[in-house]
Amino acid sequence: MRRRNFLGASVGVIVGATQAWPKTAHGIFHLNTPLPPPDANDESFWKFVRMQFPLTHDRAYLNTGGLGASPYAVIDAVKNKMDELEKISETGHSEELWKEIKTDAARLLGCDWDEIAFTRNTTEGINIIADGFPLQRGDEVILTTHEHVANAIPWVEKSKTQGIVLKMFEPSLSSQQENIDRIEKLITSRTRLISIPHGVTTTGLIMPIKEISLLAKAKNIWFFVDGAQTPGMFPFNLHEMGCDAFATSGHKWLMGPKETGLLYVRKNMLDVIQAKFIGAYSDNGFDFAKQDLVLHPSAQRYEYGTVSIPLRVGVHAAFKFIEKIGIENIWKRDQALSTRLFNALREIPDIVLLSPENSSMRSAMITFKHKKIPYIPLQAHLDSYKLRTRGVGEAGLDALRISTHIYNSFDEIDRVLEGIRTAKA
Ligand SMILES: Cc1ncc(COP(=O)(O)O)c(C=O)c1O
Repeated sequence: MRRRNFLGASVGVIVGATQAWPKTAHGIFHLNTPLPPPDANDESFWKFVRMQFPLTHDRAYLNTGGLGASPYAVIDAVKNKMDELEKISETGHSEELWKEIKTDAARLLGCDWDEIAFTRNTTEGINIIADGFPLQRGDEVILTTHEHVANAIPWVEKSKTQGIVLKMFEPSLSSQQENIDRIEKLITSRTRLISIPHGVTTTGLIMPIKEISLLAKAKNIWFFVDGAQTPGMFPFNLHEMGCDAFATSGHKWLMGPKETGLLYVRKNMLDVIQAKFIGAYSDNGFDFAKQDLVLHPSAQRYEYGTVSIPLRVGVHAAFKFIEKIGIENIWKRDQALSTRLFNALREIPDIVLLSPENSSMRSAMITFKHKKIPYIPLQAHLDSYKLRTRGVGEAGLDALRISTHIYNSFDEIDRVLEGIRTAKA
């Protein structure tokens, strides 16, 4: 059988098919176009995917863990909606539309649409959680020593102002059982909440959320997951994972517009995690005169006031884009690129890998340090190779992190390796 060639599609015809390819203003791909089934092992397919991004070829962008690049499909969706709404100067607010977008998000995350609230970013979701749990002075919260500032600052503030006690463990890079055991050792009769990341920002370690959920349930402890780094990178199911709440950003691996996020709150937790920042759309009716309020029955209770509908429509386009390519295919590609990098770095004498050796514990974020060169000059050296990396100074690490996503290529990985090999102390 003749191999499909996706690049044929980009110039207007799908090779092997008679169908003409509907073009966008950029000459390529339209979200409503039926794609031939993608094949994660077909390089021409990934070249075709790369053409969907305006991202420059001059510089290799390897910081999806910080911020994802958006495809034209997302950018156009935002622009078109903004153009449409500005002609009539309306917000475009519609609970029907929100339900439609959340239904597509829920399919990707493995939950129900009414368990999702739109947020601006993971940080906002974390703050809703930190403010919403009914914690009392002396209650204990378990965190890792490798939190991103977003899951550190709100808890430090709670510790300073409300007397919440923070207990931390160093995540193990070699054993998931060890991670579960380290959490269990910190649990006391005052432990109320575990608040840890799904994908650890420093090392790319994937935490065993399902097993930690079981531990939390057995000990009657709430479990919140900082999910900034995983949706859009690999498939998972929140209901199966069993955590009580999960916050993420639309603008990282999901490739949505900047300043978009999602907060998942399990149905039976909606009345436990109090909505503190509320207003129009948070309610299901209120009576000002009688001072009566009924909160929205869904996670929409955590949303409030006028929002940007173009951004919500843009993140919707991102979910559709991911669904077209297939989250399993995305994971295969991200893993193929990051595994190539990991294995090659292992062969470079002065490099120390800080991401897990065991591939089942590893994400598409690879972190390493140079024995003789601090990360800042090393990053500057890689900059001169037009490589955008991310420095990792958290938890006392002096390292660099490379994220590999669907717009990256094996050639870019080779460029990273060349840059590292030529670095001089
Ligand atoms: C683990 C983790 N949590 C939270 C955040 C904050 O994300 P945002 O800036 O989108 O709120 C990040 C960003 O890199 C992260 O890596």
